[in-house]
Amino acid sequence: MGLNVDQVLSRLESQEKQQIQELMDWLRIPSISTDPAYRSHCRRAAQWASDHLAASGFASALRETGTQASPGHPIVLAHTPGDASYQGPHVLFYGHYDVQPVDPLDLWESPPFEPKLIETGTSGGPGPRIVARGAVDDKGQVMMFLSAMRAWKEISGLAAGGVKMTVLLEGEEESGSVNLDAFLDANKAELSKCSVCLISDTGMLDRGRPAITYGVRGLAYTEIVLHAANQDLHSGLWGGRCPNPISELTKVLAQLWDKDRKVTIPGFYDRVRPLTQGERDAWKKLNIDAAESLSKIGLGPEANVGETGFSATEREWARPTAEINGIVGGYTGKGAKTVIPAYASAKVSFRLVADQDPVQVTEAFFKWCQERTPPGCRWELIDHHGGHPATVRTDSKELSAAVRAIDRATGRKAELIKSGGSIPVAGSLKSKLGVETIFMGFGLEDDRVHSPNEKFELECLRMGTRSHAMFIDELKKL
Ligand code: BES
Ligand code: MN
Ligand code: MN
Repeated sequence: MGLNVDQVLSRLESQEKQQIQELMDWLRIPSISTDPAYRSHCRRAAQWASDHLAASGFASALRETGTQASPGHPIVLAHTPGDASYQGPHVLFYGHYDVQPVDPLDLWESPPFEPKLIETGTSGGPGPRIVARGAVDDKGQVMMFLSAMRAWKEISGLAAGGVKMTVLLEGEEESGSVNLDAFLDANKAELSKCSVCLISDTGMLDRGRPAITYGVRGLAYTEIVLHAANQDLHSGLWGGRCPNPISELTKVLAQLWDKDRKVTIPGFYDRVRPLTQGERDAWKKLNIDAAESLSKIGLGPEANVGETGFSATEREWARPTAEINGIVGGYTGKGAKTVIPAYASAKVSFRLVADQDPVQVTEAFFKWCQERTPPGCRWELIDHHGGHPATVRTDSKELSAAVRAIDRATGRKAELIKSGGSIPVAGSLKSKLGVETIFMGFGLEDDRVHSPNEKFELECLRMGTRSHAMFIDELKKL
């Protein structure tokens, strides 16, 4: 048994060049799920992953999502071959093959879908890495798992080394997982047999500090449009005579926070679970340097701002927030144009923590907007998507197995952390199927997730690949 996993690890080591080339092939497929122009590429990216799993002994297929009238992107669903006498754990691996849009394109140092392998690191900065959209979020992290599966198949002759495994790769994670819940409902009988879900789509604490994430935040994403006159107007003739929707919108938005940077929507904090002293103490011991993190994004220590009474880590991991993601209106082209526009709009989202509910938060926000409708204006309020927050159990035997796997694979004890990001599937798995999730991710804070020049460092790829291989070995012992 021990012999097996050592062979798997050395196989993975000798296959690393091939693994990198394969990942770069996958990254070349521009699977941007939010933009209908990339539909066929999304399907190609799904098929690519499905073929990879099939070559590792999985029964894999693309499953359609959505409806005929409004089709979604396919889900890759794969299984290890059934073995009726199997008694061990049944793991559901979840990942996503879709990626975020690439804009602003001019800030990329190399084209986003022409992955670039940079083999030299910089001291104190990033190490050898692959730069491309999707490098770390999430193709690179799914690749760690795919490679580990192939090596196990090659060494043991069995898919996933004989561990019962279901793989679900989503193609709409970056566009709000709009068809996922219906898919989970439709396949409930099958998926609820899984004992635990494993996701590699989160980060480590720092270089060489692997972590298991036990909580992600939820999200409620909205767009609000404030309409005034039925046409754009000359600002000389009309300025001072009628509402300017841009200035009215910004006045409303400015009321979203009080002087302590708390969100002012009534009831917003009602369902927020207070931080426990135990968590506060544990997180302090992680020695996270807020100023150092800020320095990596070009900010000084004075930029450590947020809700009064909480540290930066506490604010990211355990407190809800409101954000304006974009705001437009009027003339934004070159030069000057004197105009009072007919409307202005903003994309406003909320990061949520347990036990907040995205539907409730969106309703409360829309009501709050209505109560502040500027005279002569009217709202158009759009609910984009949401996802529930998820805090998962840390006392399961599978999670302990993951900690041991990381330890054996990397020589480091994984730390237990939370993340401010959102992965909607985790909340749905828990509420719909009663399945807990283990987030075992290998990204870094400076990977430029969702931004130009997204990267995944080879050292992270290596640690993750070995950890996935080792996790199989640990699961076999349960
Ligand atoms: N993988 C990220 C979330 C993430 C990133 C978690 C880093 C932890 C560390 C995921 O792909 C993502 O971007 N999620 C979206 C969710 C949304 C589109 C519903 C997010 O958090 O904005
Ligand atoms: Mn992701
Ligand atoms: Mn993402």
